[in-house]
Amino acid sequence: MKSLTVETSPSLALIKYWGKSDTIRNLPATSSLAVSLDSLRTRTTVSIAKEDQVYINEELAPAERFQTFFDNLRKVTGSTARFSAHSTANFPVAAGLASSSSGFAALALAGARLIDPDISQETVSALARFGSASAARSLFGGFTVLKRHHESSQPLSIEWPELRVIIGIVTAQSKPVSSRLAMERARETSPFYSCWLEEAESVFSRSLQAVQNHDLSTLGPLMRKSYLSMFSTMLTSTPPTFYWMPESTGLIRSCEELRNSGIEVWETMDAGPQVKMICMDKDLETTLKYLKSAHPRIEFLVSRVGGAPKV
Ligand code: PMV
Repeated sequence: MKSLTVETSPSLALIKYWGKSDTIRNLPATSSLAVSLDSLRTRTTVSIAKEDQVYINEELAPAERFQTFFDNLRKVTGSTARFSAHSTANFPVAAGLASSSSGFAALALAGARLIDPDISQETVSALARFGSASAARSLFGGFTVLKRHHESSQPLSIEWPELRVIIGIVTAQSKPVSSRLAMERARETSPFYSCWLEEAESVFSRSLQAVQNHDLSTLGPLMRKSYLSMFSTMLTSTPPTFYWMPESTGLIRSCEELRNSGIEVWETMDAGPQVKMICMDKDLETTLKYLKSAHPRIEFLVSRVGGAPKV
């Protein structure tokens, strides 16, 4: 085979990983629970080349961001090959929409399968983790977990087809600070980081139960706790990291208003200003109507639970 094309979806953490327990191996310090976003796609073609290079939306990406990943790809597959990758996404990249999760998952799957067509998903998930820990989860569709200190992610045998994710794109601009830097800052300087670690595992296991029970009323407050505790470590870092924009707070308020009127919509955020809102299919139309009239300048995307990567 000369080249291989893979399509993946980003992995949206309902319960966050934030911080590393091993920075060299890029192991997560907290367990995360995520869902794959069907309508967002990254498409990556990898071929053997003279030197390692990655083009994202036709632009050459900085080589150092990919060096460790490519070195590990060679180590895992026992190959000495160099790789060229061309990647496109149907959504803004590096803007807090988990593009690194689908991006590194696609790169890992295409590169590894190019060398070894029989390589296991577990091995590829661990390889993707070297690029971005959340990418370990994007190797699988549906609901996934990446447990703390673990090398690879596991798919969950949970079907919840009524679940919808509304993504409020507050800005398509790239985020000012990478999640990698922000979480290291938090680990090294935030006095709240140890509280975050202390609480995270109990929030994770209660959420897992809630997802298994299709219980949004229990999951929602736990999702909130997870992202707000994560942000508390950013605000108390030195220097602090700010990702939110006024529109982010506006969307959070709108979710609260909807809940007060009896519609269950629960939001979450990642390392960026975008707000992702979870609701059930039956409430989607009313929720979207409300959000669009309250925030006419914000673009909204709707996603279902995504499937496995396509090779
Ligand atoms: O995988 P990274 O290094 O891009 O970090 C992802 C961090 C969060 O998106 C904030 C949380 C998560 O679990 O995806």
